[in-house]
Amino acid sequence: MSIKTEEISSLIKKQLANYQDKVSVEETGTVTYVGDGVARADGLENAMAGELLEFSNGVYGMAQNLESNDVGIVILGDYTGIREGDTVKRTGRIMEVPVGDALLGRVVDSLGRPIDGLGEIKTDKSRPIERKAPGVMERKSVSEPLQTGIKVIDALVPIGRGQRELIIGDRKTGKTAIALDTIINQKGQDVICIYVAIGQKESTVRASVETLRKYGALDYTIVVSASASNPAPMLYIAPYAGAAMGEEFMFNGKDVLIIYDDLSKQADAYRELSLILRRPPGREAYPGDIFYTHSRLLERAARLSDDLGGGSMTALPIIQTQAGDVSAYIPTNVISITDGQIFLDSDEFYAGQRPAIDAGTSVSRVGGDAQVKAMKKVAGTLRLDIASYNELASFAQFGSDLDAATQAKLARGQRTMEVLKQGLHQPLPVEEQVVTLFALQQGFIDKISMDDVQRFESELAAFMHANHQDLYDSIKKTGKLPEGDDLLNAVTEFANQFQPSDSNKQAAEDK
Ligand SMILES: Nc1ncnc2c1ncn2[C@@H]1O[C@H](COP(=O)(O)OP(=O)(O)OP(=O)(O)O)[C@@H](O)[C@H]1O
Ligand SMILES: [Mg+2]
Repeated sequence: MSIKTEEISSLIKKQLANYQDKVSVEETGTVTYVGDGVARADGLENAMAGELLEFSNGVYGMAQNLESNDVGIVILGDYTGIREGDTVKRTGRIMEVPVGDALLGRVVDSLGRPIDGLGEIKTDKSRPIERKAPGVMERKSVSEPLQTGIKVIDALVPIGRGQRELIIGDRKTGKTAIALDTIINQKGQDVICIYVAIGQKESTVRASVETLRKYGALDYTIVVSASASNPAPMLYIAPYAGAAMGEEFMFNGKDVLIIYDDLSKQADAYRELSLILRRPPGREAYPGDIFYTHSRLLERAARLSDDLGGGSMTALPIIQTQAGDVSAYIPTNVISITDGQIFLDSDEFYAGQRPAIDAGTSVSRVGGDAQVKAMKKVAGTLRLDIASYNELASFAQFGSDLDAATQAKLARGQRTMEVLKQGLHQPLPVEEQVVTLFALQQGFIDKISMDDVQRFESELAAFMHANHQDLYDSIKKTGKLPEGDDLLNAVTEFANQFQPSDSNKQAAEDK
């Protein structure tokens, strides 16, 4: 057999002509370790922090630890199909999620993939999940209110658009309820809502979605869910994915409300994956950058300057405490990053004071600037009333000989607490809240028996709608109390015709 040199050289030439330098474009590496949602790989010398990597079975991962000889990767999906020795290649892209209007009304996972069975999400826009927060010059100060519809919040801890307000409390104290009611109250307010559920049970998320749907709030809401059964990396990135979706709207001049329910579970997921990545553990075994994890997320909430379109993103992160301990590591971190906190007290919750907001420890550091003027007027003394009531109430248990002034204070305090109670999914428009608190402030409710307070409130609202809608409209439009005595007269008129239930009884007995 003879070999023709021309044939060989032409073959080699052909091969060379078809040769593509694929390897250097993709840069593949080899998995050296895999376990619990995390892998290590060598050979990915040029991988960027946060870069999306693809394993040979199609599962994606995100580059985390970039070390001299290998890369730590969090696996975004099922890691059981990945073996040591598998290849993993660079994509050259930073992790992104789909964004845009098409996501409204949908339930998606941390990668923006639909999980509600309603089919594909058609959008060609995407955004990186991590983004540097707007800087000082790109912001303007908070000046417009974000009404929650919850009396005690709008009156005592008002929230402004672009603010970050922490909701903090033990388990089962109504944290999620406040978040959902706030979303429900945004109906017709031109606010886009994003609810990020982290580490919750699938059934709980499902129930929340149904609640939003029932109250017509799902149309303007995106639900991002990384449930408890998802691997830790999915829980870790969920809030960043939600923030990216919100930013798309904010940078288009819209107002956005985003809720992270909750960041305690996100911190736990991050601790888990950091320990598996062998990062040195610090306090409470959280990695050293746990503060940065939350601060860079919450800094993305902003009120943008007019040059940038004036959009806003208001963030309500939720933190769960153990036995009311706000001095634990994660709670103190997040308290220091946010502009105030709504503290939920489990004793009050079980005593029936719901929403169980502790007026003494809850604050909003910037929302006051955004509060409606009328509300500021009628809620001005509320905090003091509650404080002096709490002080007196503990004394009053011991003696019955109280002077008239003390008794009046007690009566006011009890009724204030009663007025601040509010049922689930019953957010109230600001004008109704203002008139109720006005009636309280002017002493109309002091003479009403405790059993009648809630009926007084609802009948007052009905009376106002029927006879003085113009006053409601004017408060809503101007944000101020009506000039003159119109409101006082209207409430007096109502109070005079209000039928106390025990007087009925009394009258019946007299006969
Ligand atoms: N204002 C309210 N009036 C009546 N019931 C309420 C109110 N707020 C919450 N609840 C009820 O209290 C229970 C706990 O509420 P929720 O799930 O909001 O608490 P949570 O703090 O988010 O709990 P978890 O720790 O499980 O996340 C629910 O059954 C809810 O219906
Ligand atoms: Mg909850």
